[in-house]
Parts: sequence; C-alpha cells; structure tokens
Amino acid sequence: MNIFYSNLLKAVSVIILLMCCNKNVNQGTSQSLNDFAVDNLALASGQIDLQLQVAIEKQRIPRTQHEDGSIQFTHNGNFDWTEGFFPGTCWYLYSFTGDEKYRNAAETLQDLIKDHRFLTTNHDLGFVFNCSYGAGYRITKNEDFKQILLDAANSLIQRYNPTVGCILSWNVDRGWQSSRGWLFPVIIDNMMNLELLFEASEITGDPIYRDIAISHANTTLKNHFRDDFSSYHVIDYNPQTGAVRSKQTAQGYAHESAWARGQAWGLYGYTICYRYTKDPAYLEAAEKIANFILSNPNMPEDLVPYWDYNSPKIPNDFRDVSAAAITASALIELVEYSERDYLKSAKAILRSLSSATYKADQGTNNHFILKHSVGSIPHGAEIDVPLVYADYYYVESLIRLHKSEIKNQEVFVSGISVK
Ligand code: GLY
Repeated sequence: MNIFYSNLLKAVSVIILLMCCNKNVNQGTSQSLNDFAVDNLALASGQIDLQLQVAIEKQRIPRTQHEDGSIQFTHNGNFDWTEGFFPGTCWYLYSFTGDEKYRNAAETLQDLIKDHRFLTTNHDLGFVFNCSYGAGYRITKNEDFKQILLDAANSLIQRYNPTVGCILSWNVDRGWQSSRGWLFPVIIDNMMNLELLFEASEITGDPIYRDIAISHANTTLKNHFRDDFSSYHVIDYNPQTGAVRSKQTAQGYAHESAWARGQAWGLYGYTICYRYTKDPAYLEAAEKIANFILSNPNMPEDLVPYWDYNSPKIPNDFRDVSAAAITASALIELVEYSERDYLKSAKAILRSLSSATYKADQGTNNHFILKHSVGSIPHGAEIDVPLVYADYYYVESLIRLHKSEIKNQEVFVSGISVK
C-alpha cells in the first residue's frame, strides 16, 4: 500500500472513531428537569417518611448524627439555629405531594420551637422561622403562622445597630464567641436571615424590616468581600463608631481563606436581596460570588466543594455537601434574573448530589437524604456527617426545578457530564 492510501486509511479510521465517540456522547441517558426533580423528590420523601416517624415518636427535630452513629436532635427546649429546617422540609414535601402527613409533621414539630420567636439573643430567627412558619404561612395562609413570623421579625430587628448598619450575629458575653475579643461580630451567614425581614415588610406594608435588611446587605457588601468576591466569615465592628475592627474566620480554615458554606450563604443571600429589591448591585454581587465559586481552581469536577476553598489538604480533605446544596438552590433562582447560564452548573451539582456518592440508600444514614457534610472543622464538630440543612436545600432545589419555567429542559442522568 503506498503512503497516500496508508494515510487515507488512517484518516478514515480517525473519523469513524470520532463519530462513534460522538454517538456515545449523544446517547447518554437524559430526562426532563421535571422528571429528574420528581424522581428524586420521590426518593427523598421515602427517607423523610422514615425520619419523620422517629421525630414524631420522640417529639424531637433531627439535626445530624453523633460520632457513635446515632441520630442527633436539635437542643431540647433551647434555641438551635437548625431547628426550622426539618419542619421546612416537611412543608416542601406537603406542597409537592399534598399528603397531610407532611403537614401534620410540620405543624407538630414547629410547634415545639414556637416560643423561640421572642428570643432577642440570636440572629438565626430568620433561618428558623422563615423556613418553618414562613413556609407554612405561604402554603396555608394560616393567620396564626403569620403572627408568629411577624413576632420573630420584631425580635430579630432588636439586634440592629444603626451606627454599624448591621444586625448583630453572635452575642459575645458567653460561649466560645466570648473568647475571641469581638465587640459586634457579623457573619456572612447572617445574610440568610434577611428573607424573614423582606417577607415581614411584604406582609405588613411596613418598610422598617426591609430598610434594616437593605442596610445590613449594603454594609456587608462593603466590608465582607475581597477583590475576587470571596468573603470573610466574621467582620467585627465597633458598635459605637461602626468602624471595622477585624476581618476573621470562625468556621473556615484561616482568616484569609474562603469557607465553602460561607460563600454559598453569600450567594443565596444576595440572590434573595435581588428578588425583593431588584437592585442591580445585588444581582452583580450574586454573579460575582457565583463566579468565585464556579471558577475556583480548587472546585472538584463534580462541583461539590471541599469545606474550605483554601484548605492546604485539598484534594485529601472533606467535602461539604451542604455548601453544594445551598449553591444549587441559589443558582436555580439566579437563572431567573441573570443573563449568564447558571443552569448548567445547578444541574451538575444536583446530578452529583443525587448520585450514590452523596445520596444515602433508603433506610440508612439515620434517614437523612444526603451524606458528607461538614458543620465546623475548627470546632471539631459535625465532620463528614449528614446535616438537616443539606437535605433542606437539596429538597428546595428539586422543588424549585419542579416549579420553574425551565422544567422541560433536559438533564443528563448518565453518560456525558453536563459541565
Ligand atoms: N450558620 C451556621 C453555619 O452555617 O454553620
């Protein structure tokens, strides 16, 4: 065979090989986003059905699991920032299925925490009451739930300092927070408490809650972010002058590192602010945070981040599934507002979380849906465990897909990566 025919044969072989590969790519199994959401919500509700039986029997709210593998509930009687999430998950499943057992569970379990609405010692009233009573009010229009939500908002705004322009996150007179020398610490997580305030203004027509939320968001935007739009965890302010005293971490690897869940809270928080205000500065902030997260060189291929983007142990370190779930939910909302394509990344995250790597087999994992989250590594707490809020934001993401305009778009469930 002369050289011409030999080269021609090689070229034809390469073309055939490429065509075969392309065929494989196109033959990856796909389904509509809605079918993907419905299938995974059905699987999630199988786990939650078992978990709510335990919760109702014990009259306790699931949080995570102990080192010995047994289920850990939220504090019995005392405030726990995670106590609204399990009732919230039940409300989501009620909205999806219409099954009264979820409504009964949500009502019974949120009733256990009702009195906490008057606490003025904790900023997490936003998380707790918006996810539980807030969800219940939006679904049922129950007037008692509305009043409880407004009571919580009135308690939360007591922590606002107009000189600083922020709501105080942690009290510094007790606990580990008292050992850090802070005077007025504000954490990026606190952005998540603003939704309660925006809701309170929508319900009452009184701008006071919304004005405080906007002031908090603007002050945080000014002081919490670095040039690359990664955020500090804790900014400590002088409560008399409003000056920044220090920029530190509590749950991240280092003061100058980017704690993964903190970045997710920021993304979700500014997406909420844009929802209620349509201020382009908040959309821009959310887009810049999303860019930091999604283009981070330490982000793994499956888009489930390590617990801190700057951990020196990467790639031999823990992932934080909760950060991925919060990010997915925020990105699905951001798709509505932004001209950038965040759906691809949201789909990739949800595909990962719905795989056997991160999703527990039914009847295992203390009936939590997802595995492999991290509470706080510096505190040696909740490392590589299921967390109730990872499940909450995963279910929220699926519900958002199910209800969204884009639900007829495709997602690959096997075959080629959607990245
Ligand atoms: N707000 C507490 C946390 O994200 O761990």
